[in-house]
Amino acid sequence: MKRLVVLASGRGSNFKAILDEIKAGNINGEIVAVISDHHDAKALDIARENEIEAIFGNGKAPEYNDWLLGTVKTYEPDYILLAGYMRIVPKAFVEAFAGRIINIHPALLPSFKGLHGQRQALEYGVKIAGCTVHYVDEGMDTGRIIAQRAVEVKDDDTEETLSARILEQEHKLYPAVVKALCE
Ligand code: GRF
Repeated sequence: MKRLVVLASGRGSNFKAILDEIKAGNINGEIVAVISDHHDAKALDIARENEIEAIFGNGKAPEYNDWLLGTVKTYEPDYILLAGYMRIVPKAFVEAFAGRIINIHPALLPSFKGLHGQRQALEYGVKIAGCTVHYVDEGMDTGRIIAQRAVEVKDDDTEETLSARILEQEHKLYPAVVKALCE
């Protein structure tokens, strides 16, 4: 069984989608901790409800970075899954877990990196949007792509409607990638 640590800042729906597949016995892995930089993150509640260690930590560099690295190391993870984690992962962290940090982004990278990928796609006027699961390197949303799913943009889409349809695909794509990584 692979050991998985999740970093999440908010809602935690991608974390939940992965957890559901683990609970269904479809992923050969175990989430050993969920770490959040927001004490009221829904992701922490979901972890607690499922008897997964839920850890809050926040602060400024370099203290926060040292804390995060030290804390994650204690769990000896095979993979670190970023699921709506809203901070840039520090260099030392990327180096310590090279090739083992994964992220999901709500756009077809390399287009629309950074915040509000769905809004950027709408504003640009692309007709195909989507989501990307990728390895994390020191850049923002620049690491090697693992898998993507496309979502058609409709003429009457708003940021909300497009985001919702992309999220549906995120919830399929991320668990599928984690499943493959754990095999
Ligand atoms: C998702 O849209 C994900 O692609 C992005 O942040 C959002 C997190 O949502 N990185 P959730 O916390 O998983 O519900």
